Amino acid sequence: MSPDELKQKVAEAAFIYLEQLLHANWVLGIGTGSTVNCFIDCLAQSSQTFVGAVSSSVQTTDRLNAHNINVIDINDVSEVMVYIDGADEVDSTFALTKGGGGALTREKIVASLANKFVCIVDESKLVNCLGAFPVPVEVLPLASHPVATQIGKLGGHPKLRSGLTDNGNCVLDVSGLEIDDPDYWERTINDIPGVVTTGIFSLHRPQEIFVARADGSIDHKVRS
Ligand code: 5RP
Repeated sequence: MSPDELKQKVAEAAFIYLEQLLHANWVLGIGTGSTVNCFIDCLAQSSQTFVGAVSSSVQTTDRLNAHNINVIDINDVSEVMVYIDGADEVDSTFALTKGGGGALTREKIVASLANKFVCIVDESKLVNCLGAFPVPVEVLPLASHPVATQIGKLGGHPKLRSGLTDNGNCVLDVSGLEIDDPDYWERTINDIPGVVTTGIFSLHRPQEIFVARADGSIDHKVRS
């Protein structure tokens, strides 16, 4: 199957699972990216009612609005029942790298509010150790140089991404890191003054992951 077909397949599988749980008083959290776009399109076809969705990016908000799905401000919710999002890398302990689409900070905020985080990926995203995909780090523009210097001292090779995030910040894509201890690396990078957040999602890992295999079969993994 093509990468696009696998994204569609995994989004449909997660949607069928979540639609059975979906309740009229639920607020969902919606991530960002091409896999999540497929999920949003499924959600739009649902006959199940729910309160609405907290969005993790302008791109996602636009797609939710286009489907007339109620978008709720993150400051107006106390709880998100389920957060659904893709990832750039997933290790065997469910630690993730995210932020390829630049939405990492809002994604992490919504993930932190969620009772359950469900991640949807195709099997190309599964890795033994995070770090081959350059780790995105959102940084205040005024601090991009000092943060890059500090990351260099940790052994990383930061590259400034062109453009700004939805929050008006820069992203450094950091290659050369072997994320063998994701909790440590998430905390260490987050502690650098000027960093807004890192795309390592270890402290807020998903509870469940749907994986589309190359043959089109779906694995539903639950963290023990
Ligand atoms: C955006 C993200 C995405 O979830 C990640 O980049 C995966 O995207 P896609 O589903 O398009 O492969 O973290 O910031």
